[in-house]
Parts: sequence; structure tokens; C-alpha cells
Amino acid sequence: MTAPAETRVLVVDDEEVARESLKAWLEESGYATDVAADAKRALEMLEARRYAVALIDIRMKGMDGIELTRRIKSIDPTIDVIVITAYASAETAVLALKLGACDYLTKPFDAEDLCRRIEDCVDRRAGRDGGAPVPDDLPGDSWSTILTASPAMHAVLELAKDVAASDITVLIEGEIGTGKELVARTIHRMSKRRFMLFVPITCGGLDDDLLESEFFGHERKAFPGAALRKKGSFELADGGTLFLDDIAAMSSRMQIELLKVLKQKAFLRVGGTRPLEVNFRLVAATARDIDDLVRRDAFRRDLFNRTSGIRLRLPPLRERGEDVVLLAHQFLDRCAGAANRRFDGFSQGALDVIRRYPWPGNVGELKSAVERAVAVERGTTVSVESLCLGFPAPPAAGSAARRPSGLLEAERRHVLGVLEAEQWDIDRAAAALEVSREELGALIAKHGLKRSS
Ligand SMILES: Nc1ncnc2c1ncn2[C@@H]1O[C@H](COP(=O)(O)OP(=O)(O)OP(=O)(O)O)[C@@H](O)[C@H]1O
Ligand SMILES: [Mg+2]
Repeated sequence: MTAPAETRVLVVDDEEVARESLKAWLEESGYATDVAADAKRALEMLEARRYAVALIDIRMKGMDGIELTRRIKSIDPTIDVIVITAYASAETAVLALKLGACDYLTKPFDAEDLCRRIEDCVDRRAGRDGGAPVPDDLPGDSWSTILTASPAMHAVLELAKDVAASDITVLIEGEIGTGKELVARTIHRMSKRRFMLFVPITCGGLDDDLLESEFFGHERKAFPGAALRKKGSFELADGGTLFLDDIAAMSSRMQIELLKVLKQKAFLRVGGTRPLEVNFRLVAATARDIDDLVRRDAFRRDLFNRTSGIRLRLPPLRERGEDVVLLAHQFLDRCAGAANRRFDGFSQGALDVIRRYPWPGNVGELKSAVERAVAVERGTTVSVESLCLGFPAPPAAGSAARRPSGLLEAERRHVLGVLEAEQWDIDRAAAALEVSREELGALIAKHGLKRSS
């Protein structure tokens, strides 16, 4: 059995013999291992360095393993804790599981058992982070989770592949639902940082205080309600990848705060006095026209320069040709499999609708539409009705096109005018029209609106 070299394990046991033999077993199996003789030392070590797994003996003098597990999980819920217990204290092990430990070992156990449990934890972690770690000898494989036959997408993915292994910052641009997060996760999985965490944080929708606490974490009692110390995203992403979604939504104050951390590669927890060094790779995403925001001074140019080492522009689904059909089939297969049902495919009418609908919410919207269709479809072929896209049925062959009524024409002009004013930014146009993205999609489809250039 070979362990990923970057999987670092912390062994906490107050008995020296136990500690050292565990360390020897683990190192023989390829795990980088540190030891701590008590809980206090373990907490100091966890602060200084990132561990994938903590192996904790329950019975220890001073703070016991249960309390230590509780503390570790409240500071950093992403560390996998495995507790070690004597047979007589199996009940205590159950308590540790309730507190967030991922497994427990009952003494006596052997090296193989121990390493298998750790491997299971690491595999589960990889699943949580968005997929199993990919071994070094399969460099291209993870990209295949991004389904596309579009030359425009292939060009973007080629660029992403070229830069994945480096530490260059990446700015992923694309309309809502175009796969920005999927690409960001794949870049992480294909980088040398893949055994550390991918930490996503959405900058939109959080006020500054909340975002600050998410970014920086806080010390115990830093403010009323902060009973325990909490690690923030910068700290959690140490060694791994920080994914800042909707980066352009950050206020100017938070833009300055972020810039400081990127420059200094260190930060203070809220209420903290000791700077903590961090080393993460930054990948950011935005659905907004960031060049325009920079021009209008709504997004700092210096931050833009630092976060956009490489820009990846994901084309909207409507510009990816037959991808929409490929993806629809893939989502249908997956949903049907998950629901334990068998489908033959889509009806011809449904495929026509899938091809003609403008998909303002892109791949994300397509995925939801297929999930919904699978849930409501009673037959084995997905029909137009179960797709439920608010899309008018195509006129029967030979029927005269209906003249638009004055009201309809006014609606068409108004919607088109707003879309053009907002350069077909679906979010902004929907906001200006005070409708949801889906409603705007239905309006675009209803009037057959198309971008002029
Ligand atoms: N090319 C693709 N192949 C397979 N699945 C895809 C592809 N693109 C996107 N998806 C899936 O579609 C969904 C939406 O993608 P994702 O969340 O990455 O988009 P996004 O651009 O981050 O969206 P938003 O702007 O709403 O945050 C996800 O479930 C993702 O796995
Ligand atoms: Mg996203």
C-alpha cells in the first residue's frame, strides 16, 4: 500500500511506546507523520501545520481524546479524526463519532488495519473535495469529467491543462452555470495541491463582516458569540486551492483586505495578534463583465492583475453546438441511474426543444431541467411536457406565423432592449426586468431573441 506523500498524519498519544510504534508503522506505509504527547501540544501543532488525519488516543492525562476531538472539529471541521480506544471504552468511541470523528480503532489492531482506515478517510475526503485524487500517471484523465465536443471549450480546457500544475492564479469567466466551479475543481485535482483542500467561498451575498469572518476566521471571544476559535478559508486552504466565486461582488473594503493577504501571504485571524503564514493557490470566478468593472473603478485594477494570471473564458452553452444534446444525455443517464430507472432517451420533440431553447442558465439549468424531467416523467422517454421549459411548441408545418399583437411586440422590444443594454448579461438583464433568470429564459425563447453580434 502506498500513501500519497502529502498526506500528513498527526498521532496524539501520551504513551511514548504507542506513539513511536504508530509513527513507525505509518511512515513505513508512506505517511508523513508527526507525534504529540498531549492534547495541548497537538493543538499547537495543528495550528502550525495542516494535517489530513489526526489519530488520537482517547485515554490521555490532562485533556482527553474526546475533548481534543471536539476542539479539533470546531476549529477545523475538515480534518479527519480517528480515535483509538480500548475495548472497554467502545461507548466513548461512539461519543467521539458523534463529535465528528470519522472512525475508531479498538486495541489491539495491526498496521494494515490502521493504514486501511486512514486510506478510507483520505478517499472519502477526496470525494468531499469533488472527486478521487488522480494518480500522477494519469495526467489527462480528470479533464474527461468535463463533457464537451465544442472546439471553443476544448481551446479553453487546453489552456487550463497547461496551467493546472503551476501556481499561477486563474480567473474563470463565464455566464451563470457554464461550469466555472467544475473547471476550478478540476484544475485543483490536476495540480500538485490535490491532496490538500479545495476551499470554495462565494463572495456574493455575504456582508463584509460575514465575509471577513469566513476569510480570516476568528480567535476565541473575538466578538460576542465567538465562543470558540474558528479557522477561516485562508487557513483551511493552506497548501491547497482557494476558490473565490463571484469575486467581482466583493466590496472595495474586502478587495483591499484580500489584496493585502495576497501580497503578504500572511494574515491575522479576527481578534488575533500573531500573523499566520499561508500558501494557497487562488482560483477565482465571475459571471460579470470584469473588464467593465475595472474600467469603471468598481473592481480594483491591482487586485484584478493579481487574480487574473490566466483568464479562462467559458463559452455559453448556446455557443457550444451539440454539447447541449451530449450533456442532456449524460445527465439523463446519471439521473436515471440514481433514481434506479431506465430511460430510452428524449423524444424527437424534446430534443428539438433542447436544441432551440437558449439556456440562459447554461449547463446548470440543463442539469436541473433533466433532473426535473426524470422526476415527473412517467414513461421511459423524456417528453417535451416533462422538460417543462416554458417554450412554445413549434408551429405546425405550413401554418401561417402569427402576427405579433401590439402588446407582445412591445414586450419583445422591451426585453430585447434591456438585454442589449446589458450586453446580454443574463443576470443583470433579469435584475433590470425584475424577473428571475428562468423567467428571462422563457421570455427569450418565447420571442426567439438572439444576440445581434
Ligand atoms: N461540461 C460539463 N460537463 C459535465 N457537467 C458539467 C459541465 N459543465 C457544468 N457541469 C455541471 O453543471 C453544473 C453547474 O456547473 P458549475 O456549478 O460548475 O457552474 P458555475 O459556472 O460555477 O455556475 P454558477 O455561475 O451558477 O455558480 C454542475 O453540476 C456541473 O458539474
Ligand atoms: Mg459557481
